[in-house]
Amino acid sequence: MGYSTLLLIHSWLRWAFLLAALYAIIRSLNGKINNKPFGKEENTAAKVLVALTHTMLLLGLVLWFISPNVQQALSQGASIFMKDKVMRALVMEMEHPLINIIAVVLIQLGRIKSKKAYEDSSKHMRSLVYYGIGLLLILSRIPWGTTPMFRGME
Ligand code: HEM
Repeated sequence: MGYSTLLLIHSWLRWAFLLAALYAIIRSLNGKINNKPFGKEENTAAKVLVALTHTMLLLGLVLWFISPNVQQALSQGASIFMKDKVMRALVMEMEHPLINIIAVVLIQLGRIKSKKAYEDSSKHMRSLVYYGIGLLLILSRIPWGTTPMFRGME
């Protein structure tokens, strides 16, 4: 499978990821506020979210090594900061992978912590906080400018 196929999958899977994250967060928010048990639905939501998160990480890591954009940014080094590619270089070469890896770790940690919690309300709370911060970090690093719908926003 080539670079453009992987990029396409990584790009489109973002929507599944965002939906899964939102869904898990909303369920836990609802569970927390209304004092509901952390049940099968929440468990499935968390599993789907973690699976999609890992898939994004895997695709992202492969992309990082084969992307001509990343290679170009790396090879041009400091001179790139003099050019208008500064956004792309920062987002793609460094910030997007770095911040998103941190977010992936947070989401995985949230799942583990939520599983380990004894009370249902702390299960909800831990999911809420970790997935919430993870989602915010990822949202802040998505290169919206490459999405046809949002082209030119960056
Ligand atoms: C769940 C979190 C993530 C989301 C929602 C996400 C989303 C995106 C999007 C929308 C693009 C642009 C695709 C395009 O140009 O059409 C992209 C590109 C990319 N992402 Fe991610 N990403 C995530 C995690 C990661 C991680 C963890 C890594 C690295 C370890 C990574 C590495 C990359 C690379 C290298 C590119 C493309 C570089 C290029 O333009 O050639 N991503 N990502």
